Amino acid sequence: MSTRVAIVTGAGQGIGRATAARLAADGLHVVCVDRAGEAAERTATTIRDAGGGATSYAADVAKDQDCVDAVEAAARLGEVAVLCNIAGISPFSSGIAQVGEELWDRVLAVNVKSVFLMSRACLPHLVAAGDGAVIVNMASVHAFAALPESAPYAASKGAIVALTRQMAVDLASAGVRVIAVAPGAVDTPSSYTGARGLGADSQELGLVKDRHHLGWLAEPGDVAEAVAWLASPRARFVNGSTLVIDGGMLAQLPRQG
Ligand SMILES: NC(=O)c1ccc[n+]([C@@H]2O[C@H](COP(=O)([O-])OP(=O)(O)OC[C@H]3O[C@@H](n4cnc5c(N)ncnc54)[C@H](O)[C@@H]3O)[C@@H](O)[C@H]2O)c1
Repeated sequence: MSTRVAIVTGAGQGIGRATAARLAADGLHVVCVDRAGEAAERTATTIRDAGGGATSYAADVAKDQDCVDAVEAAARLGEVAVLCNIAGISPFSSGIAQVGEELWDRVLAVNVKSVFLMSRACLPHLVAAGDGAVIVNMASVHAFAALPESAPYAASKGAIVALTRQMAVDLASAGVRVIAVAPGAVDTPSSYTGARGLGADSQELGLVKDRHHLGWLAEPGDVAEAVAWLASPRARFVNGSTLVIDGGMLAQLPRQG
């Protein structure tokens, strides 16, 4: 039986790193793709040290040729059956009055165009893998509710929800499921950068905690666990939808007074 390969973008740190480790624990050979090649290699080394299979690949997923090359390298290792599009950037402090065209284009390219490019490059391999092939995309609660001054990020995450639905419809007959996850605040390096962008320091991430019904931030592993389930045959009837993983944040109305 050929090696079953999962490609995880943004695997250098945060949610991508945790997802790579979780999929490797399920027995997949994980190709850890990240623009930060050294970080991707650190993730791959950690997985190999734990007895799993992993290879790193340095690529900017906003660039078509990088995506094509990364997928070709992954396909040489086995059957590419899982693609997790997790790489993303989250520059806040960018309402439509202030955001420059360059920043807008960059956020949409890294967060959304990358999903199209990586999925397109993987498609022949996913179709060949047949039933059980799956793409998991990374949305966010920002697709459904807004914080001030997050225009490009919110637009990018809303687009991922729509693109996920579209790809699920288009690829169902080929046996490829496409799903998204929409986390609330997750305790990763970029959460702290994001908090600073909104004028908060890391202590004030407590504000974010208060908005979670459960009262705590998610660990990257909480999201990775859901992705691993969605990517497995145990979720074989889940398709085209977006799973919100936010501790109840979106369920809660703002407090009065
Ligand atoms: N952290 C949160 O609270 C949260 C909540 C909801 C959704 N998300 C989403 O989850 C994803 C991961 O978030 P995180 O907090 O782990 O981020 P992070 O910044 O900790 O990690 C992102 C990784 O993606 C890589 N990356 C960025 N641009 C890239 C590119 N062009 N090509 C290849 N790799 C690139 C970075 O080098 C980094 O290793 C993002 O899409 C983010 O929008 C995060």
